[in-house]
Amino acid sequence: MLAETPPLYYNNDTDSFGYATARSRWPVILKTAVHDVQLKANEAHPLMKSQSVAIITAIENLLTQIETNGPVELFSQEDINLIPDLQCFNDTIAKSGPYTWLDGPWLFTECYLYRVLDLEIKKQSAWANWDVFERLKRNTFKSSSFGVEEIAGYYTKLSGELKTDNEIPLEKLKLLFEDFVDTSLWGNATDLSLLANATLEDIQSRQGSAARATSAKNILCNDIQLAWDRLLSVPFEERRVDFVLDNAGFEFYTDLALTLFLLDSKLVSQVVFHCKTRPWMVSDTMVKDYKLWVHDMKDPTFFTGSKHRKDLNYFVESIEKYHKQGKFNLVDSEFWTGSLDYWELSQEETKYGGAELWKYFQDSTLVIVKGDLNYRKLTGDRKWVRSTPFNIAINKLAGAGIHILALRTCKADVCAGLPEGKDEELCKLWESEGHDIGGLWCSSGKWAVVSYTDGKSL
Ligand code: F6P
Ligand code: MG
Repeated sequence: MLAETPPLYYNNDTDSFGYATARSRWPVILKTAVHDVQLKANEAHPLMKSQSVAIITAIENLLTQIETNGPVELFSQEDINLIPDLQCFNDTIAKSGPYTWLDGPWLFTECYLYRVLDLEIKKQSAWANWDVFERLKRNTFKSSSFGVEEIAGYYTKLSGELKTDNEIPLEKLKLLFEDFVDTSLWGNATDLSLLANATLEDIQSRQGSAARATSAKNILCNDIQLAWDRLLSVPFEERRVDFVLDNAGFEFYTDLALTLFLLDSKLVSQVVFHCKTRPWMVSDTMVKDYKLWVHDMKDPTFFTGSKHRKDLNYFVESIEKYHKQGKFNLVDSEFWTGSLDYWELSQEETKYGGAELWKYFQDSTLVIVKGDLNYRKLTGDRKWVRSTPFNIAINKLAGAGIHILALRTCKADVCAGLPEGKDEELCKLWESEGHDIGGLWCSSGKWAVVSYTDGKSL
C-alpha cells in the first residue's frame, strides 16, 4: 500500500529554501548566464554575435517574469516542434497548474526555468550546441586541484596494489568501497548553484580527505552495508553499476575514482554513467563534459604548478582504457531533465523515457543516484516528516525492481530516513547557531544521507 503523499514544497513557503532560491539565487544564476552569453558573443563570428541579442532579451524577460511573479506559460507548439519533450511540462501544467513563478511548486518551476533558458539558447541556430554553463564548470574543476591531486596520488598507489595477483581480503575491499563511496558522496558538496560566490578556499575546504573525515559524523543515515551485500549477491560477470550522475568537475572526478576502484578491484564488470542531455542546474554533467574532462586532465597547463602530473595522467589513462574496452560507458536520456518525478521510472511511463530506463535498470546490480536534485526527484520534493522511511518517500519506485543507492548531501528541504528525533535535534542546533529557521539545516550542504532500496519493498 502506498502512503498518502504530503504536499509539495512551494516557492512561497517562507520556511523553505525554495523561498530564497526563487527570489535570490535564480536571479544570480540568470544574470551570470547573460554575462556568459556576452563573453561568448564578444569572441564569436557575426551570426552568433547578432543572435546573442535575442538570447539576452529572452533571459532578461524571464528574469522579469520571475521577479514580478508572472505566470509560468505553456510552451508553444513551435517550441515543442523544436524540442519535443517540452510537452512533458505542458502536461504537468495542464494537470496541476496554472502556476506563477513565486507561488508555484519549487521543483517544477526550477526545472522549468532551466528548460526555458535552454530553449531560448537553442532557438538561435548558431548557439544550438553551446553550453551556457561550460565556462563555470571547467573553472570550478580548475579550482579543485587540491582535492583532485590528492585523489590521483592515492589512486596510483592503490591501483598498484589492486592489480597485483595477491588476493585482497574482502574485509579490506569493503573498507575501500566505503571510502570511495564516501568520497563520491562528499564530492557532491561542490555544487556551482550553491557555491556561485565561493572563494578558492571555500571550495578546497570542502574537498580532500581531512574534510571528509570531519564530515563522517554528519551522515545521518547510512545504508552502505545493504548496497555492499547487494553487490556481492550478483555473479561477477553480471555485476553492472549504473550512476545517475549529478555535477561535472570535482564530483564527476570522484565518481570516476569510485568507478576505477570498482573495476580495478574486480568488484564489478561494468560501469555506466547516465548524463543529462542539456545544460542543467548549472553544474550537471553532459556526455560531452567527459571529453572536456579528458582534455583538461591531460593539459599540462590546466592545474598550474601540479606536483602530481604523472598521477593525473595515470588516472585519466586508466579511465580511457576502460572506456575503450567498453567496461565504462556514458549515456544520456531526456527523462532526467523532464518534469516527472523518478516515481515515473516505470513500465507505464512510455511517453518521456521512463519505461526505457526502467527496463534498462532491471538488470543493474546497483543504481547509484547522486546529489540533491536527483534526491528531490526520488522523493517527489514533498513535505515528508523527515523520519519517514526512504522506501515510503520514494513512493511506487520502492516496488519498481530497481536497486538504488542514493548519495546525497542535503541542499534542499526534503529529507527521509532519519532516526526519530534527529530532525528536531538538528533544528535546535541550527537555531542555536544563530539561524532564524531551524529546519533549514537541511539545505546547508553540511549533512548527508545514504539511502538504499532493493526495489521490492512495496
Ligand atoms: O539547493 C537547491 C538547488 O539549487 C536545487 O535546486 C538542487 O537540488 C541543488 O541545489 C543542486 O544540487 P545538486 O547539484 O546536488 O543536485
Ligand atoms: Mg547538480
